[in-house]
Amino acid sequence: MEKLIRDFTEFYGVAPTVIARAPGRLEILGNHTDYNQGYVLSCAVAQNTRFALRPVDGKHCRIKDFRDGSVREFDLDNIATAVPKDWSNYVKGVIVELAKRSIKVGAFDAGMESSVPLSAGMSSSAALETSAGFAFREAFGIELSKADWARVGQGVENNYMGLKSGLLDQFSSIFGKKDSMILTDFRSVEVLRTVALPAGYSIVVINSMVKHNLVDSEYNVRREDCESAAHKLAQIYPDVKTLRDVTPEQLENARPALGEREYRRACHVVGECDRVLRAVRALENNDVAAFGALWFESHESSRVNFENSTPELDYLVELAHSVPGCLGARLSGGGFGGITIHLVESAGAAEYAERVQAAFKQRIGVAPEYIICSIGDGAESKKLQEK
Ligand code: GLA
Repeated sequence: MEKLIRDFTEFYGVAPTVIARAPGRLEILGNHTDYNQGYVLSCAVAQNTRFALRPVDGKHCRIKDFRDGSVREFDLDNIATAVPKDWSNYVKGVIVELAKRSIKVGAFDAGMESSVPLSAGMSSSAALETSAGFAFREAFGIELSKADWARVGQGVENNYMGLKSGLLDQFSSIFGKKDSMILTDFRSVEVLRTVALPAGYSIVVINSMVKHNLVDSEYNVRREDCESAAHKLAQIYPDVKTLRDVTPEQLENARPALGEREYRRACHVVGECDRVLRAVRALENNDVAAFGALWFESHESSRVNFENSTPELDYLVELAHSVPGCLGARLSGGGFGGITIHLVESAGAAEYAERVQAAFKQRIGVAPEYIICSIGDGAESKKLQEK
């Protein structure tokens, strides 16, 4: 945090009064289950977005981006709609969402920096929404529960950006626990338990280098498919409210009532919920091989049933089967590009990543970036001492 405070002070000539930090996240298992009120195993990463702020008089706000030196400026009276392709939407959207809850954010000067890779599937946008929101919380005395802060960020995506995403990204950024995965139930919207990553294993994130922009992707179409499948299944099984309530057996029995595409989308979500719970049991039994096998199963289901993979993501997972040292790999997050995650033995993690990188470069022509991931703590904020 120190560097951002120094940079802010140098740029504005006066120190920030509050600072906040929010991490990116990895979806470990439970793909597209959050908006179906299902289960997800996820974690926060050590890569963070930091947001420092100082309230000012008037209506004019400035945000200095210390990644590239640019500045965004806007008036609080003029933020009702998003400006195309501008990251400050994720800050303005928070102010708009808070206003809907009758919470007022005053004008400010702010500084932002981030180590969360952009448009990769590690939730850089949720990290920005959450860090800005938490800075507003400190600066303007806003009282909301942690789950409600996640809903504010989701509201930015749903209403301001037009992406009908679930709560996973913001929730993981806020509730993440260092060195642990969190098992979340997105019906009750609570962390059911934390689960440690088995000792001696690491998660390697390998970027397919295909930028995924969910706003322009088929993400919303997938959500509609899931909802129409759930609607048809509810006519057969009255207790079904979302796909989370459907067992694999029920889905098979009801197959003739669904369109082929709806059936496959439902298969993915029902299978993913089941895989999350099986993963937790495998980890309880210290069965790392079974845990990893579920990652491969998940990816295969994305590829075939949910059709949210790409040839580049598929190739990275194919390499995970042949390069030694990997127990499982899958796409992580919305899909349609972005990252894969690989469960590998820690001792050989760097060598594994180098080998995958070289093979991918040879076939696809571009060297994929990789990160040997550390699992970090969820978001935090604090007031700074006036000097
Ligand atoms: C994106 C969305 C999340 C979730 C995942 C897929 O990250 O923002 O809400 O749906 O995709 O699991």
